[in-house]
Amino acid sequence: MKKFLITLVFIFGVLQLIRPSKNMGLVNPVNSIEAKLPMPAIVKSSMQKACFDCHSNNTRYPWYFDIQPIGWYLTNHVRDGKRHLNFDEFMTYNAKKMDHKMEELIESQTEGWMPLESYTWIHSDAKLSQEEKNAIVDYAKKVRVAVGYMNQNNGEDKEKREDRD
Ligand code: HEC
Repeated sequence: MKKFLITLVFIFGVLQLIRPSKNMGLVNPVNSIEAKLPMPAIVKSSMQKACFDCHSNNTRYPWYFDIQPIGWYLTNHVRDGKRHLNFDEFMTYNAKKMDHKMEELIESQTEGWMPLESYTWIHSDAKLSQEEKNAIVDYAKKVRVAVGYMNQNNGEDKEKREDRD
């Protein structure tokens, strides 16, 4: 039994040595969604506390990020979130993709599936008020107008859901 415990502690110790790298990249403001449309203060502060940890190039890491396998778990969420939508890389998307991401952004707030529930368990301040959600939706609608894709295409490919990437 003692040997078993020692082995467990040893394995746990070794796991700590394999650290995931952090998502703290350089941010080029030219590529930010704000280059398309600056965010009103309420939108920015709401997104900062509820979205940017997983959808930008800079994550604010909690202390337990340094405990494995928690750090790996968080890293996966960030990688996945960024792959789907990165507000710091928004200007690198084509118009169709920009428009589609904004459509999803609106749905995420009206249907309430973002931020992830597992995130709000710990970050209680990330539970947005109705006013904050409305501000985000309103902003996303304005971005869609600024992108202009919607108008050109009369919403033709609204049904095409398979291009979720
Ligand atoms: C803890 C990490 C995390 C946080 C915080 C988070 N997201 Fe996400 N988000 C993800 C992941 C992972 C995915 C991809 C998987 C999925 O769709 O569930 C995703 C997907 C999305 C999508 C779908 C993109 C697409 O390609 O269709 C939208 C829109 C979105 N998030 C918006 C938001 C908004 C808005 C907030 C803040 C209110 C937010 N997210 C907060 C992790 C996060």
